[in-house]
Amino acid sequence: MLTEHTQELYLEKTALSALAQRYGTPLYVYSQQALDNALAAYRTAFAALNPLICYAVKANGNLSILRRFAEQGCGFDIVSGGELARVLQAGGAAERTIFSGVGKSRAEIEFALRSGIRCFNVESLPELDRINQIAGSLKVRAPISLRINPDVDAHTHPYISTGLKESKFGIAYDDALAAYRHAASLPHLDVQGIDCHIGSQLLEIAPLIEACERIVHLADVLAQDGIALSHIDLGGGIGIRYRDETLPDLQAYADAVQAIIGERPLSLMLEPGRSLVGNAGVLLTQVEYIKRGEAKDFVIVDAAMNDLMRPALYQAYHEIVPIRRKDIAPITADVVGPVCESGDFLGQDRTLAVEAGDVLAVKSAGAYGASMASNYNARPRAAEVLVDGENTRLIRRRESMEDLWACEMA
Ligand code: LLP
Repeated sequence: MLTEHTQELYLEKTALSALAQRYGTPLYVYSQQALDNALAAYRTAFAALNPLICYAVKANGNLSILRRFAEQGCGFDIVSGGELARVLQAGGAAERTIFSGVGKSRAEIEFALRSGIRCFNVESLPELDRINQIAGSLKVRAPISLRINPDVDAHTHPYISTGLKESKFGIAYDDALAAYRHAASLPHLDVQGIDCHIGSQLLEIAPLIEACERIVHLADVLAQDGIALSHIDLGGGIGIRYRDETLPDLQAYADAVQAIIGERPLSLMLEPGRSLVGNAGVLLTQVEYIKRGEAKDFVIVDAAMNDLMRPALYQAYHEIVPIRRKDIAPITADVVGPVCESGDFLGQDRTLAVEAGDVLAVKSAGAYGASMASNYNARPRAAEVLVDGENTRLIRRRESMEDLWACEMA
């Protein structure tokens, strides 16, 4: 959705310079068309399986983005009571919401049961017991699925790889049958499904397909044991292009899943996050100073690791481009923020034709950007804007100084 006209970057039909001027920087900007297209791509690829697509709210939980997906019939994957509250606040349907995560509290489980969520993705035996007990006290049956660790290597960054034996997530593959038997013995649980999530920013479909095979095989084993499941959930989506990555073929993934499921009476759920929002968003930031250092030069900008943590946390690469092309000599520099940490960079060794006052776009920032932002260094969080053609809408106002201490007592 980013295009260049007359040396200016546009998101849909809106010049980014106009947005920076109107709303200030740092500013997250999202393209509605890109959100819609990304969801449609999953719908199209998986059409034959008619899956329930549960957008992973953690990628970007802004109410307007949730609302946009909810309006299109999308479900949601949540990992906290806070995310459930967001979904409901945005008009999302509880019956299309599934609850993942290793540490669901009693209060969160009760909230989810009272709201009537579609399913809990349970990650341990003590969690099964806890859900059973709470469901019993509420006189309901809790729909559950077990998150099984298929023990496949997703070949992604270790911090976002979750399907290996060492991972804190999921129940070990070899323990699955016993865990399901235990679940089936609990009176207030309704055992419905099986799920897995092997990691994020996956650039190969082979591990996803292997995980699917192992999960479906388990469903067969369980059926023979008298535990008939009605759905499988394959977890998060495919990776996105940050730089020059070759993207996995979504259709090939969908076709493989369809072939694996075959005629089994299993419906499909998916929990994509990054691939629905990542490339729909950019972070706009203004250059404060160009600093010539001893060994390196720096482009010091007004966004920092508190606004976009991915480079600092995962050494993630985000392309950075000036929003207006200039005919000046480029410099090679680190793009850094004002936060007092050496790890506070948005990009390293970038060649940019910029000077103080120019605005840069940090690309592919729609996923795990705003949602991971903090107030570190007492920095008010950035505003967010949704673009639809030439219309723009503020979907989160910039935080004020008072917001910084709104919950505190002096
Ligand atoms: N389902 C579960 C259970 C998950 O844990 C996740 C992501 C997803 C779905 C969505 O996965 P996706 O489609 O986005 O790959 N902060 C990191 C990413 C952490 C992902 C955590 N789980 C980053 O910025 O790269």
